[in-house]
Amino acid sequence: MKKLIVANWKCNPLKSQEALKIFKGTIAVASKSKKAETVICPPYVFLKEIIAAAKGTEIKIGAQNCFWEETGAYTGMVSAAMLKNMGCKYAIIGHSEARRFVKETNEEISRKIAAAAKSGLIPILCIGENRGERKENKTYEVLAQQLNEGLLKLSKIDISKIIIAYEPIWAIGTGDYADPIEIKKAKEFILGLLKKMSGAENTGKIRVIYGGSVNAENSELYFSKAEMDGLLVGGASLNPKEFSKIINSASY
Ligand code: PGA
Repeated sequence: MKKLIVANWKCNPLKSQEALKIFKGTIAVASKSKKAETVICPPYVFLKEIIAAAKGTEIKIGAQNCFWEETGAYTGMVSAAMLKNMGCKYAIIGHSEARRFVKETNEEISRKIAAAAKSGLIPILCIGENRGERKENKTYEVLAQQLNEGLLKLSKIDISKIIIAYEPIWAIGTGDYADPIEIKKAKEFILGLLKKMSGAENTGKIRVIYGGSVNAENSELYFSKAEMDGLLVGGASLNPKEFSKIINSASY
């Protein structure tokens, strides 16, 4: 299976011309790669243009969040169904910045995950411990709670299609180095839990990807040593040259 390299542009850039420039700088390498599938997740406001620019390329587009109801009186929300209809394939859900800045709960995340799956989007569920939880050896406890509660509303079959992004919060945007062996153990823990939740026969296709200060220097390690199925890249995905190197570092 190809590795999944997901660009999370977060609240960047400021203008659509800049967004198109970043996107165009990524096309050449992303389209040629035999080892990686590239997904770009721009802010909602740039989705239409980026989806149009992605036509005829190998790049897939994702949203950075979604709402659980399809339509209705929900001011400011964008539904999973709308995103699917406009051409998104993926949706990042439960990112630590959404948990932090808009206080998303596991219960809300579970509704979003279910709505995404129902509308045909592939959910990318982000989970991870913060620095304090890590110090207190609570990493696995936190991961288990986020998975159990976040996937509560999914059928066994839908769990088998999910992508889990393991993103230790202390490694996001900090430049802090996460040890590939620890990440590998976290992946095994996550897969073990998903196996119990979805039944062993369904787990073959689940991909666990890593995120947190991934750059062109360290990305190769997450494939060779941590054996991850892909990467979720924030800051470095805004630099097409660096992001192209990350795509090229994907190995089986
Ligand atoms: P970062 O962000 O690569 O800038 O650390 C990753 C993420 O938050 O998804």
